This record gives sequence, structure tokens and C-alpha cells, in this order.
Amino acid sequence: MNDLNALPADFTWGVATAAYQIEGAVAEDGRTPSIWDTFSHTPGTIDNGDTGDVACDHYHRVPEDIGLMKQLGVDAYRFSIAWPRIVPGGDGPVNEKGLAFYDRLVDGLLEAGITPFATLYHWDLPQILQDRGGWPSRDTAEHFAAYASAVAERLGDRVKDWATLNEPLCSSWIGHLEGSMAPGLKDLTAAVRASYHLHLGHGLAVQAIRAASSDARVGIVNNLSPIEPASDSDADRAAAVRADGHTNRWWLDPIHGRGYPQDMLDVYGVDLPQRPGDLETIATPLDWLGLNYYFRQIVQDDPTGPAPFARQVGVEGARHTHMGWEVHADGLEQLLLRLKDEYGARRIFVTENGSAFPDTVRADGTVDDPERSRYLDEHLAACARAVEKGAPLAGYFAWSLMDNFEWAYGYDKRFGLVHVDYETQRRTIKGSGHHYADIIRAANGGTGRAA
Ligand code: FCB
Repeated sequence: MNDLNALPADFTWGVATAAYQIEGAVAEDGRTPSIWDTFSHTPGTIDNGDTGDVACDHYHRVPEDIGLMKQLGVDAYRFSIAWPRIVPGGDGPVNEKGLAFYDRLVDGLLEAGITPFATLYHWDLPQILQDRGGWPSRDTAEHFAAYASAVAERLGDRVKDWATLNEPLCSSWIGHLEGSMAPGLKDLTAAVRASYHLHLGHGLAVQAIRAASSDARVGIVNNLSPIEPASDSDADRAAAVRADGHTNRWWLDPIHGRGYPQDMLDVYGVDLPQRPGDLETIATPLDWLGLNYYFRQIVQDDPTGPAPFARQVGVEGARHTHMGWEVHADGLEQLLLRLKDEYGARRIFVTENGSAFPDTVRADGTVDDPERSRYLDEHLAACARAVEKGAPLAGYFAWSLMDNFEWAYGYDKRFGLVHVDYETQRRTIKGSGHHYADIIRAANGGTGRAA
């Protein structure tokens, strides 16, 4: 593992999950439905008709799951907080029982020596706010900030590392334009407005968190992809510029004070619901940037397709995961360097990276997943190369601690370092989980987690 020597000595080794994907207990202790409850209960939306009703039953298994993290030897745990547990009405009264759940989680983590990284929005908007207009409506941004404030007031004495949004690209483009995630709309105007109000909510939440907890370190988590044209033709090259705007620049420029890219405003042709001061709020300076990396995109011009009129094409002969995503670790190095070079990033976490494979438990009780270990090695090596070239990378969170509800793909796609048997809720650390533990132990000088 010499190739990881470039990583800083205080590198944060973590694992990540998200509330709706693992918690279950969807009607317990005052939680109300989120847009993902509604969406997953809509026939035909999720493979196999799966829902997050039970998921990994993490809500009832926090001590066991923290025990797994201890066995892996991780320094940090990135989890998300379910807005409909905290503010069941979307706005208004705060639910004590919802806060108490995350209190227990955070206390358990700290007792185990694991640093909590809390994400405030991993896609589970209270359905009641969707009924009142959802992210296309400006009020949602303000309600988000109020919810963020309530959480930071309660947990801010113990949680120092906060992310506002997870992957606003997915909430906006996949949820409102492509329709394959909640709330399942195919409406470009709604999608652009949603993206704007997600950013506004982010900026307001950063300010609210800091007001409640002065030593908070706040970031945002974006999923980005390097983009390449499928050919040298002018049309494909122009498509690649649009795809880059759609996937990367739209999400990075505004939070860095550059406003929204003009070329993409022209492509979408949708007026932003902008008010004076908004762009400054959206660009509230951050302590760190989160990068979720899964794949690159090779694109062709697609004049008749939906915005941005660029179609992703496959790569022949490449390795692919069970998601059908190409394995391309160099893309992670490229993105880390781009964040440094083009956006002047000073502190980055890889907040998600991982791979799905159809793992099974063998008769001897072990789970053998060498392809996931290889994926991990390749992507960590890419991180180390980026660090050698100056990328300010502070940590890596493997997606995911355990197999979970993979959104529209249901339970069939297994991303965990820990296998979950959904019939029995039995957890089994996979070969890749043991491998990750070895990497962490070696990085920390062979003694386990650094003190
Ligand atoms: C990301 C999501 C995460 C998980 C992984 C595989 O887009 O943030 O919840 O589903 O993909």
C-alpha cells in the first residue's frame, strides 16, 4: 500500500450512508412521509417494488451498526438526517423524538471514537412541502434553513462537520427533469427552479448552522463527472461542453460566486427566480467541498433529446459495476485537480465513492468481493496521485457502510462493505470491508485508529 503514502497523516478514513436508504421505521416517533416514501410506493417506480419502509432497520440497530464501524476502524461516519423526523410538518414545530434519535447516534459515535459528519438533506423532502410546491418554490429554501438551524442548535455542541445538501444535481435533474427519482417530474422549468432554490436553501443553511454553532465546519456535497466528447466532431465537442455545464459547472460556479453559467442559461431558456442578494447568499464561503465520484461521461450530440442535448455513450471493453457504471479511477484524480485548479478548493473530502456487485454470503459465512477491493484500491491510488499533485484532499468516505436501498434500483444493487441479509437483518463484513480495515490500519501506522 506504498502508493497511498502521499495521503496526509491526518487523513480522515470514513464510510457513508443516507437516512432513507438505511433507517426504516418510517412511521415511528412522529416521522411523516417524505417524497421518497411517496415515490417508492408509486407502482412501477422502483425495481422489484421495493421501498425504504424497513431498509436496514438501522433505526433500531444503531449500537450494532456503530460496532461494525469500530470493526472497520474508521475515523468518521457520514450519515444524513431525515428532515421529516425533525420537522414532521415541513415547517413549524420540532419533533423531540426525532432529535433524540440523532442524539443517540452522535453520542454512540463519539463514545466509539468516530467523528460524525452530518448531511442535512439527502433527498428526503417532507411530502407536505412537496404538496406546497417543493423545491421549485422559494419557501422550501427558507424552511430548509429553519430545519438546519434546529438541528445545529441541538447537535452543534458535538457535531462539527456538516454538509447541507447531497447531490443537488440528482434532486434537480433526476428528480424534476428525468423523473426517475422523487418527486418524479419531467419538467425543465421545475428542474431549473428546484436547482436554484436548493442552492439558495444551501446558502441560507450554511448561515443558519454557523449562527447556531460558531465552530461548525460546513460544506456541500456534489456528484461530478469528467466529460469527454465521443468523437472529434464539432457537434460532439459542443455537446461535451453542454454536458459539462449541466453536470459540473451549474453546481460549482454559483457556490463559488460566479453566478450561473450563461451558456447553460441559454441552453435551458428558463428564467431564474432570482431576487437581489440571492447570488451572494448562494456563494456564502464554505469550509470544505464534498465530491461524490462514480463515473465519467462520454457524450454525443443529441439534438432531439432533453436538455442538455447530449447523450452518454458506453465504453466498449471497459470494466463495469453492477450498476452498469464504467470503472474509471483516473476520473477521480482529474476531478480533485479540477476543484483545486479551477475553483481554488482548499479542503476537499471524497464524500462518496464505491461500487455495486451482486454479492452473496458463502456457505462458510464469508462474502468474497475482490472486485470491490480492487475498485477501492484503484480509487484510493487516484486520490493519492491527486494529493501528490497538490489536491487538498482531507479524507475519503467509502459508499457505503452497508448494503442498502439503492433508490430506483431497490435492494438489488449492493454497495456495502458490509453485506445485509434483508430477511434476517444479519450483517456480514465483506472481504472488501476487511480490506478497507487493513488499509486504514496500515495508514495509521499499523496500530488501528490514530488516537
Ligand atoms: C449517490 C447517492 C447515494 C448512493 C450512491 C450509489 O448518487 O448519493 O445515496 O445511492 O449514489
